[in-house]
Amino acid sequence: MEKEGQVVWVVVSLVVATALMLPLLHRLRLSSRRGLRLPPGSMGLFFFGESLSLKCQRMNFYTSREKRYGKVFKTHLFGHPSIVITSPDAAQFVLLEQPARFKQRGLPIIEKLVGDLFFGYQTQRKHARLRKFMHGPLLPETLENSISDIEALATSMLHSWELKTINILEEAKHYALKVAMEYVVGAAPHYEKEELTKACEHLIRGVSSIPVNIPGTHYHKALKDSKKKACALLENIVSWRQLEKRPHGDILGILMDTQDEDGCKLTPNEIHDNVLTLLYLGHDTAAAALTWAVKYLTDNPKLLEDVTAEHETIRQKKTSQDETLMWSDIKDQMPLSIRVIKETLRIANIVEFCYREVVEDVEYKGYLFPKGWRILVAHSAVHSNSEYYTNPGEFNSSRFKIAPKPYTYTPFGNGAHVCLGRELANLELLIFLHHFTLNYRWESIGDTDGSEYAPIHVPKGGFPIAVRRRSMTDGKGS
Ligand code: HEM
Ligand SMILES: *[C@@H]1O[C@H](CO)[C@@H](O)[C@H](O)[C@H]1NC(C)=O
Repeated sequence: MEKEGQVVWVVVSLVVATALMLPLLHRLRLSSRRGLRLPPGSMGLFFFGESLSLKCQRMNFYTSREKRYGKVFKTHLFGHPSIVITSPDAAQFVLLEQPARFKQRGLPIIEKLVGDLFFGYQTQRKHARLRKFMHGPLLPETLENSISDIEALATSMLHSWELKTINILEEAKHYALKVAMEYVVGAAPHYEKEELTKACEHLIRGVSSIPVNIPGTHYHKALKDSKKKACALLENIVSWRQLEKRPHGDILGILMDTQDEDGCKLTPNEIHDNVLTLLYLGHDTAAAALTWAVKYLTDNPKLLEDVTAEHETIRQKKTSQDETLMWSDIKDQMPLSIRVIKETLRIANIVEFCYREVVEDVEYKGYLFPKGWRILVAHSAVHSNSEYYTNPGEFNSSRFKIAPKPYTYTPFGNGAHVCLGRELANLELLIFLHHFTLNYRWESIGDTDGSEYAPIHVPKGGFPIAVRRRSMTDGKGS
């Protein structure tokens, strides 16, 4: 009996000791690989890592660790050992020079809810192939033809704001989703398209919820109901198109037609995940950008006056009030508005970082980036660093009269995965600003300070404003 007890005791001790040693052994094994060492940094608390610190400190998380460890440091975030990069050189290395060794990933909640079969997360070859086709509908030449459609969406939204108090973020989400929808699922029966829009809004709301999968939570509803509903609706649209036998130049059409090198078509699940991820990427980001732009214009009355004057000049050149905007108006006649958007994206850092998985062990300047670890290319930290921007905390659109130093301005990412929708985002923002500043004035309501990460960076509370039509007494002319 006693002997048995001793054996059990020894076995238990061994198991516990090994469990305790494992992380240490793991680290030793890693650091002995090719004599490389891991970047400095702290892995934080067991299980939680440093996710809570990031959540509480945000920009300060990057600056404090950068001061202590340098611009490449290790940490543990979102359930994975990770390396954070806050230097333009290292960012260039990961995003531009070695794309095959760093695979794009979405945050766990996004992959789980919106889909992990998105083309960006696939192998480099598969990604490049699909990206080439998907770019078509989002190229400037194609976008040019839909200026009047976007304008109609913007003006009808603005019309509905008159004499009301609205939450810009919520309104901008509808607008951005409708715009993205035209490129992604352009042709579809009315009912299916409306319902798909609603299902997507619910699904995407789940992305900013707390990921607790028990009945009653937003997350559970998004995962169980909205995702299923969205996929079923997409299937209806796909069947409808197959019956129609007419080619459609939108992204769904491209996804339905493309084949890989072996002649295989995408599976229905791949089509769903790509459509839903695209709608997600095109929707929350542009909506946040629009909301921040309005906030900065509200905070800077002189700037608002100058932006309005720029748009008045464009309108005055038109023969009738109704004449719609032309591509040349947008490209050549809105330099100040374009700088305002650039500065908005720099200072608001809507997308905080680009997320990657290390595909194989990589060496960078004597450091080991171990296979399986995650990389956060934190361009938000670069945008907020006084080494690259004087008075980085100050909104100053004039700074973009001079081009920023190479690789220091990357709100849309860089390299193989650089945002496919950046031209569209600019277009929908500029068209909105044109009509908004020309025809409306507004006051912010309540406390407008603070912001939150959902996980896109947005003003807290969504920036409510009371809107009225602009009158003769609001600045000169009208
Ligand atoms: C102001 C608004 C936007 C911002 C700040 C933004 C930001 C970004 C960033 C930082 C990336 C790179 C991600 C990475 O490398 O991991 C990205 C990728 C992407 N964005 Fe955007 N985006 C915006 C609007 C849009 C819109 C309107 C669309 C389209 C409908 C869109 C579609 C995409 C797609 C498809 C990718 C993935 C490209 C790839 O992996 O090859 N984005 N975006
Ligand atoms: C804004 O930036 C410009 C160009 O960098 C600079 O000349 C100007 O002094 C800045 N304005 C303020 C108020 O800091």
